[in-house]
Amino acid sequence: MAKKKKAEKGVKAPTAGVRKSRKSKKPWSGRFEHPMAKSAEDFTSSVHFDVRLYKQDIVQSIAYARALFKVHILSGAECKKTIKALEAILKGIEKNKIKLKPDLEDVHMNIESLLIEKVGDMGKKLHSGRSRNDQVATDLRMYLNFEVTEVIFLIKKLQDTLLDLAEANISVIMPGYTHLQRAQPILFSHHLMAYFEMLERDKTRFVKVGEEIDVMPLGSAALAGTNFKIDREGLAKELGFSKVSRNSMDAVSDRDFAIDFVSAAALLMMHLSRFAEEIIIWSTYEFDYIELPDQFTTGSSIMPQKKNPDIAELVRGKTGRVYGDLMALLTVMKGLPLAYNRDMQEDKEAVFDAVDTLKAVLPIFEEMIRSTKIHAENMEKAAKKGFLTATDLAYYLVQRGVPFREAHKIVGEIVAYCEDSNMELEYLSLPQLKQFSTAFGYDATRILSTKSSVSSKDVSGGTSPARVKESIKRARKHLLHDKT
Ligand code: ARG
Repeated sequence: MAKKKKAEKGVKAPTAGVRKSRKSKKPWSGRFEHPMAKSAEDFTSSVHFDVRLYKQDIVQSIAYARALFKVHILSGAECKKTIKALEAILKGIEKNKIKLKPDLEDVHMNIESLLIEKVGDMGKKLHSGRSRNDQVATDLRMYLNFEVTEVIFLIKKLQDTLLDLAEANISVIMPGYTHLQRAQPILFSHHLMAYFEMLERDKTRFVKVGEEIDVMPLGSAALAGTNFKIDREGLAKELGFSKVSRNSMDAVSDRDFAIDFVSAAALLMMHLSRFAEEIIIWSTYEFDYIELPDQFTTGSSIMPQKKNPDIAELVRGKTGRVYGDLMALLTVMKGLPLAYNRDMQEDKEAVFDAVDTLKAVLPIFEEMIRSTKIHAENMEKAAKKGFLTATDLAYYLVQRGVPFREAHKIVGEIVAYCEDSNMELEYLSLPQLKQFSTAFGYDATRILSTKSSVSSKDVSGGTSPARVKESIKRARKHLLHDKT
């Protein structure tokens, strides 16, 4: 307050020399009388996690140095020296020769301070017209820009393995379920292709997220835009962005792109978790549809016979943490006034965690399913038990003019009869069927096998072998030509 009054009266501000005698070493320490408390320094420091952005930060700074040269803030020689020093810092960090300091707050200030150490006062020019606010938003977008393509690559790999598995087991029949009750016979390959479709949507989602990420905030400075006529379009091109942000305030305070990424990650994890759940169920003694490879299971420290599906369980379990990351981001952002607020520093760990989880889960899931043994005979046996072709029988009657509701009732009675006499539909004779409806003809018994049931679903998207083969072929071709 006192200081403000002095300023109003036009009293000269203390000289830099006076300030220097005070303790703080921060680049922003000019207006402070006291250094930051150690506890506050520890509390606000983010370098232990945002160090991950060092490469993006340096690449950005190199491009920015060139932009400053073009507007005559840096001379040619200064620009060259700055770039050389930044390249050396990059190498130093990469080779673990440089350790970043927590008391310098974040990765951005660490790199700036390293630069000043190397080139002296000239290094102090680099932050002209730039704020950590547009700097960090640019770094994070550059980071995600790269990671999004990594994730897309891993999704494709998993899709490819699904196609291999579907092809190798093209005509294996299994029970399809609703409410986890046996419903209708389906092809195992059709079941696998359902996951292919989910992953296809995930991939498309990540491609769209990539487009959202592809906007460069640099040049927005703290919030109002930079004072210097830097060539933002040129900078964007150099940094791999195809667009520049249109509003400086939005640019520095927008984390939608990070939320989009983690949201797509949460959806992908949800799909993998459902698949993991099925793998867990299928590998039980009760189902015994598959056998997980030894390499991707664990034993029990007490029960010698156990073979546990821990990988699949952890995939299911890790879904929760990615949902948590999404919730964290949404909650951090929900009450923030424009523009930048320090709360936003909390975005990084959630984003990094989602990236790490996807990059850990996708490859191991792919490896696990690639080497899983399929017990085709058990699947086929299961599909024959539980009257799974009852609906086909009802449709047989429908085709002979019986209204569906009536046909449903007749077949319900046939099922009850079979249950009482411990018999499967497939083994009913024509005279037995005729007792329930005179509409049954000589060909009725032929449609009761699981094989004829799946073949009859000859509709696009259906489970007939011809349709599934076609969909695998189409998917294979699509994947091969997919340039995303
Ligand atoms: N470490 C900060 C973050 O990650 C960088 C931006 C800090 N900006 C500031 N004005 N305090 O968000």
